[in-house]
Amino acid sequence: MRCVFLGPPGAGKGTQAAVLREKRSLAHISTGDILRDNVKKGTDLGKQAKEFMDSGGLVPDEVIVSMMKGRLQEPDCSSGFILDGFPRTAPQAEALGALLKEMQIPLDAVILFDVSDDVVIQRLTGRRICRSCGAIYHAVNRPPKVDGVCDACGGALYQRDDDSEDVVKKRLEVYKEQTRPLVDYYEKRGILVRVDAGKSGEEVISSIESAAGSEHDLA
Ligand code: AP5
Repeated sequence: MRCVFLGPPGAGKGTQAAVLREKRSLAHISTGDILRDNVKKGTDLGKQAKEFMDSGGLVPDEVIVSMMKGRLQEPDCSSGFILDGFPRTAPQAEALGALLKEMQIPLDAVILFDVSDDVVIQRLTGRRICRSCGAIYHAVNRPPKVDGVCDACGGALYQRDDDSEDVVKKRLEVYKEQTRPLVDYYEKRGILVRVDAGKSGEEVISSIESAAGSEHDLA
């Protein structure tokens, strides 16, 4: 399966990608995670990206496209992938189309995570992430067993700098202006699948699996 997870910040893309990655042995490629890793390591890419990320804006297309060209050609992508957070603009969608054409790989589905602004704000202001393994929690919806400690690896949980309410509102504006037009783009190509992402995690993953095809098709 080769698919894109499209939707506003906090819609649950990362949470569901982690579930599907385990179930189907797919590569989970999150542009946000790659960028945050580069910021943490202080690479040139991280230095270029940091100010855009902190303000809730988008990192320039050319930076993202060149980063993704390399990533999609890595061996773990050959058995399928989930693109989480890419493409996010019309030029990125065009670049992805051209790259997959060159690689002779079709895109099977673009899953649209449909969710209201209120739910996004509640989810992101309560989100906590493990510094060691990246597991995603929520202070209310999905709390860890011990406050501030990851259930999976015992790592410390933290809150992302861009999860403050002001920056979340800015990210929502940017989504509506620059990313939402991709809904039409992929609908016209007949590969868009809408999922009600306001439901529980179990309901969302089951909608993704049934909408994107039978279990056999996804395997
Ligand atoms: P990125 O990291 O991609 O952030 P995002 O798209 O804004 O998405 P999030 O990671 O915030 O949300 P999510 O949908 O994954 O939600 P999650 O599963 O964690 O990008 C960050 C920044 O990097 C951008 O602002 C930009 O600057 C830059 N960037 C990245 N890609 C770029 C690109 N292509 N071009 C240019 N710039 C780029 O869930 C959220 C919370 O909700 C969690 O606490 C979770 O536990 C909870 N939750 C999830 N599902 C449910 C549910 N069903 N019910 C209840 N709670 C739930």
